[in-house]
Amino acid sequence: MAGLRRGIVFAAVALMFAAVMLPEVAAVRYVVGGKMGWSSNVNYKNWARGRHFYKGDWLFFVYDRTKMNVLEVKKADYERCIARLPLHNRTTGAGRDVVPLNVTKTYYFIRGKGYCYKGMKAAVPIRRRI
Ligand SMILES: *[C@@H]1O[C@H](CO)[C@@H](O)[C@H](O)[C@H]1NC(C)=O
Ligand SMILES: *[C@@H]1O[C@H](CO)[C@@H](O)[C@H](O)[C@H]1NC(C)=O
Repeated sequence: MAGLRRGIVFAAVALMFAAVMLPEVAAVRYVVGGKMGWSSNVNYKNWARGRHFYKGDWLFFVYDRTKMNVLEVKKADYERCIARLPLHNRTTGAGRDVVPLNVTKTYYFIRGKGYCYKGMKAAVPIRRRI
């Protein structure tokens, strides 16, 4: 009897643990641009196209901290490469910036200083996790 009860308690704890842990396990941290990182030679449209981003995932911008920045902007500013009024300046100074994708929306990132015009910008649509 004690063994059975222990078994039930164990199963219940395991289930609770799974329920709590699963969303964490499923969250993905994407290095923006893959091996190339955040640089001027990546087509970020192609990079984003092959991926499904979900709320709870993370973006990781890896780049040369002396030369680049990461600005989160509005859609219109993304389209026209306007860096003056970013929603969030994601540049921390280390060249290693983590952005939690905690809202179901499309995130828009650009690199300022004119590089956005050369294609250094990324639109990241977030899907709702079912
Ligand atoms: C963004 O933040 C970085 C680091 O604090 C700073 O050096 C840079 O000037 C800021 N850029 C903009 C556009 O606000
Ligand atoms: C999302 O994360 C940002 C930090 O990057 C925080 O400022 C914001 O309050 C968070 N929003 C929600 C809905 O959790």
